[in-house]
Formats: sequence, C-alpha cells, structure tokens
Amino acid sequence: MKYEDFYNESIKQPEEFWRKQASQIDWHTFPKNIISKDEYDYAQWFQDGQLNLSYLCIDKHIEDGFGETVALIYDSPVTQTKEHITFNQLHHEVSKLAGGLQKLGLQKGDTCIIYMPMIPQAIYAMLACVRIGVIHSVVFGGFAPHELAIRITDCKAKAIITASNGIEIDKIIPYKPFVDEAIESVQDKPEHVIVFNRNDTEIESPKSYDVDYQNLVDNAPSVEAIPLHSTHPSYILYTSGTTGTPKGIIRDTGGYATALKFSMKYVYGVDEGEVFWAASDVGWVVGHSFIVYGPLLNRNTTVLFEGKPIKTPDASTFWRVISEHKVNVMFTAPTAIRAIKKEDPNGEFIKKYDMDSLKYQFLAGERCDLATLTWTKEHLKVPVIDHWWQTESGWPMIANMAGLELKKVKPGSASFAVCGYDIRILNEAGEEVNDDTEGYVAVKLPLPPGTLTSLWANPQRFKSGYLERFPGYYFSGDGGYKDEDGYIFITGRVDDIINVAGHRLSTAEMEEIVSSHTSVAECAVFGINCELKGQKPLGLVVLKTENKLEEEKIKNEIIAKVRYEIGAVASFRDVLIVQRLPKTRSGKILRKLLRSIADEKQYNVPSTIDDIQIIDEVKTVYEKEGIGIFK
Ligand code: COA
Ligand code: AMP
Repeated sequence: MKYEDFYNESIKQPEEFWRKQASQIDWHTFPKNIISKDEYDYAQWFQDGQLNLSYLCIDKHIEDGFGETVALIYDSPVTQTKEHITFNQLHHEVSKLAGGLQKLGLQKGDTCIIYMPMIPQAIYAMLACVRIGVIHSVVFGGFAPHELAIRITDCKAKAIITASNGIEIDKIIPYKPFVDEAIESVQDKPEHVIVFNRNDTEIESPKSYDVDYQNLVDNAPSVEAIPLHSTHPSYILYTSGTTGTPKGIIRDTGGYATALKFSMKYVYGVDEGEVFWAASDVGWVVGHSFIVYGPLLNRNTTVLFEGKPIKTPDASTFWRVISEHKVNVMFTAPTAIRAIKKEDPNGEFIKKYDMDSLKYQFLAGERCDLATLTWTKEHLKVPVIDHWWQTESGWPMIANMAGLELKKVKPGSASFAVCGYDIRILNEAGEEVNDDTEGYVAVKLPLPPGTLTSLWANPQRFKSGYLERFPGYYFSGDGGYKDEDGYIFITGRVDDIINVAGHRLSTAEMEEIVSSHTSVAECAVFGINCELKGQKPLGLVVLKTENKLEEEKIKNEIIAKVRYEIGAVASFRDVLIVQRLPKTRSGKILRKLLRSIADEKQYNVPSTIDDIQIIDEVKTVYEKEGIGIFK
C-alpha cells in the first residue's frame, strides 16, 4: 500500500480508518461509538468500547499459545544481570502484584506513583495497575524528591511503588530515601509505599507506610484483568510545561492500544514475535509506549536495558545488546549516538558484533543533526529513521513509515505526517504557510486515537495551552516548515522548553528556582547548544549587591538549589554573573538574544532593545567563561 493513499484515507475518513485499526486488537466490547466530542469539542475515541491493556499485553498471547515465548529481556550491565521472562512468568508476576494492590485497598480510578529504576518490577507495576484500572504515574528516577512531591500532590497518589535504590554509572541513587523525603513534604500522604528491595540488607529507616514488594506478591491472589472503558485513563505522565508546574498528560486506554498496535506495524515495521528495543527509560513517554505497551501488545520481545550507551562498560554496549538478543528494530535518542561516536569515532566496536538481525534504527526525542544521522547510517548499514513526537501525542506524529513505504530520507526532516495527523504549519495569524516558510507546527483537529485526552485535574490549562492559540488545531509548541515536496522539518521549541540529552525540561521552572536564591536580583535561564546533549541550560544572574568574594559561593549554591529541587536530570551546571540583562523597552528580558549571542556568529538584534551596550557586556562575560561559540 502506498503511503499517500493510506494517509489520505486516515484524514478523510477518520472514523472508518480507526474503526478498522481498532479491530486489530481484542476488545471485551467492541465500540459502536468511534469518535465523540467532549465539552471543548475535542475528540474522545471509542467511548463505549471496553478492553484491558494488561490483558492485551499478556493474557491474550498466552491464550494464543505463546505463554512460553520470551516477553521481556532484562539486560543490566550495571548489575551484570540478564533475565528472560516469558509471557507466563509475566502473567504470574503481574496478576499477583495486581492482587496485592487490591489487598491494600487500591481500586479502579485510584492513582499510584511508580518511582523505579529500569528493573522488571517497574514493568510489572505498570501492568499490574492497568490490570485493575488503577491509574499509574511513572516518575523518572533523575527527578528529585521535590519534583516527586509535586506529582504526589497533583495526582493525589494513594500508593507509591518504588525500589530500594537505582544504579547509575558510578553511583547509587537512593530511591526509597527520596520517596520518604517527598512524602514528608506533602500534605495528603499516600497510604502505602511498596518497596522492592534490591539488596540483601534491610531497608534503612523503615516507615509505617512501608510494604515489602516481594512479601506482598508472594501472599497475594492472582487477579484477572478487568474490562475498562476505552476512555478510562491508563496513566498520567507529567511533562514540562512553560510554567514551573509540570503538566499531567492523561492517556486513555482504547485509543492508546489501537494507536500503539498501529505504530508497531506501520511506523516501526515490526512483525509479531520480533525483538524490539527502545533504549530509553520507563519514566519517559518512549518507555511507556515503546518499552512497555507497544511491543508487548504486538507480541514482541521487549528489551529492558539498565545501562547507558557508554561507560557500562564502554561504547560497545548497544551493539552487544543488539547482537546478543537479536534485536530487529531499535529506538534511541541522537544524544546516545553522539556519546558513542565521541568514544568510538570509527565505529570499531560495531565491527566486532553480528548485527544482521537489525532492520531499522529509529531516532527521536530531539533534533537529529546531520553528523549523527550520517554516522549512524554509515556504521549500522540499515535505514536510520528520524521521527518526531511528544509526550502529549504518545506515539509518532511525523515519520518515514517503515512498515508502509520507506521514502527517500531528507536529512533534517523526520519526513511526513503519520496517518491520523493532519499537520499544518501556521503563521502568527493562524494561516497555513508552505514552501519552506517557517511557522508553528499544529495539528488540525481531531487528533487521532492515543493522543492526550486532557490534563490531570486541570482541563482549563489543557484548553488554554493546546487548543486556544489556533482555534480548530492542537498546537505542538514546536516550530518548523514544510518543503515543496511536503517533507516536514522541525526547527525546535518556540517556548521555554529545552531538550537536554533527550530529556524535556522547563527553563521557566529553573528560573523560578534561581530567582528564589536570596542574593539574586534577577535572572534568565535558557538553553544553549551542547555537542553531546543537544542543549544545556545556562543561567545569567544579576546579584542584589556586588560582592566579588562571594560570587563563586553563590554560583555553587544556585547550581545546588536547582539540582536539589529538580534533580540531576536538569544538568544545570553553568551560571554566569552579569551586571545587567538585555531587555526590551517595556522591560521584557531578551532570552532569545542571549541564546543567539552564545550560539550564532550572526544574529538579529531586536529593534525593541532598551540598551544595545549590554550586548557587548554579555559577550565579554561569555568570552571570559568560554561559553558557546566563545569556547
Ligand atoms: N536515575 C537517577 N539519576 C539519573 C538517571 C536516572 N534514571 N538518569 C540520569 N541521571 C542523572 C545522571 O547520573 C547525571 O547525574 P550527575 O549530574 O550526578 O552526573 C544526571 O542525571 C544527568 O544525566 P544525563 O543527562 O543522562 O547525562 P550523563 O552525562 O549521565 O549521560 C548520555 C549522557 C548522553 C550518555 C545520556 O544522557 C544518555 O544515555 N542519553 C540518552 C537519553 C535517552 O535515551 N533519552 C530518551 C528520551 S526519548
Ligand atoms: P517529549 O515530550 O519529552 O517527548 O519531548 C517532545 C519534544 O522533543 C518535541 O516537542 C520536540 O521539541 C522534541 N523532539 C522530539 N523528537 C524530535 C525530532 N525527531 N526532531 C526534533 N525535535 C524532536
């Protein structure tokens, strides 16, 4: 089938198109009502259908005779462990944990936070929750207790599932103590903290709310998956917005299952029974959709990798995993490839492994630079496919749809809109622009199944953040353009969000923390280019009083404060003290200009600038500190 025909069908007859795709999965009750609208005239999918994600990921395959097939390969270079877990074993672990959650009083509609490293129990926890209609919210391990506390409060978590600790390249991450610290700071406390103990020693400073994970599972009954309405939230996933408060993206059940099944086949081109590996973390949307639900729904063996592209133990790890587990399709972020390329520029490690199983290498999470694309193609010798999407969409929005028809790649472009997404480039006035004119990337409503249904506890923010900027469209927050052949190029965020090593972070949130330091009069935090991580945050700070002796101390305190409140993942390491910040005549800080001075040899100075002298002052500081192009 040709991409154009299939795509046009999805846009012209969305109901018929998605009804057909929905029939590719097993429903308890197949929906009659395919699209309905909520109070904002926003589409909700398959409203009267009933199904269960845990059933689709596990029980269905056992019923079809694949119980002894490997569902999950846990490969952990940091603990030197490899485990092969079959669908039967997955069923045992998940159905008993679900029974344990029920025994603790968790019911359909309750919320449960999962704060765990990349271990099988994280996946069991997600599948156990959706098995009984408990809405999970996975929080990435690189976030600090303060961020965890914000999420506990926002979703009113009834329980938390965690582990004693995580293991990073050269350090232990104290998950359980972080949970305790977060709970101490919140008013509405979760009732239970279920702790998976990874060590032989007892959990230190046990609390009255602690429940031992293994003990709970060992003594719980197995429970069946319960039928859930298609619109029942399967999870809440918090992501950075343009304010200091993260947004809780709500994902439904039926639309999501349909979209993931569709993605595995048509976007990733992966057949049932093949091995799929997304080298991400369960705390991100990639982890939800393409470590857990997508591959398992499609009866793929999924790889759960607890390691890094480098240093665990070296830059050969990815290739070892592909070769050893016969990975057919792999997904990672360009930053991971950049890290490998830096250590092994000629791809010597790749030559040592039999990589014949690999069909496609997918890249996403940030802009894919030409050097990374070229290097990957040259060394892996398979199609390298850049594709674009977001936490909000839950599955790819722009891609070269490998399972349908691979088109010629244009470097810098993730290719074409995926079926279901009517992507338009709009100007300030909301008019469509084409032929290389840069504008805002928006999607004409309705969005296809699987995309966000609203924001948790804040439908008004959902409406104002996504639907009001361009009426009739979903606004992605990214800028981009379409060329004359229809290829779409994403040029980057048009808001305060930055992308550091494929991790989405809010500079507005960092700015709030920096400005709360008692010595700071005003500040600006923005993202500048980083060879390894794509972008990294830089803070410019004006102090209340000049005190040269104290400057280093204050800088260190500011860095520590951001790390303490957001977490290590913020990678906030650079603070510069300046006398003044460039502003418009109306007093608005010119962050874009500050970024451009660091990144570009030539840039436009806005005519609204209050005092052009400040540009030279900023340049002098950048030069002195070796920032950006002044390195
Ligand atoms: N739990 C706890 N801490 C974590 C963590 C986790 N799951 N992941 C990262 N961190 C910590 C790191 O240890 C580091 O801490 P440090 O400041 O004490 O060194 C900090 O967060 C920043 O981590 P990161 O940005 O990942 O940088 P790094 O230098 O450790 O590694 C790369 C660099 C490129 C190897 C790494 O970022 C990487 O593998 N990126 C790929 C990301 C990815 O797959 N994203 C998918 C999104 S689609
Ligand atoms: P997240 O919600 O964490 O997945 O981050 C989504 C954001 O990452 C998008 O809005 C883009 O800004 C960026 N992004 C993701 N994939 C790509 C890509 N292939 N090319 C360019 N930017 C990307």
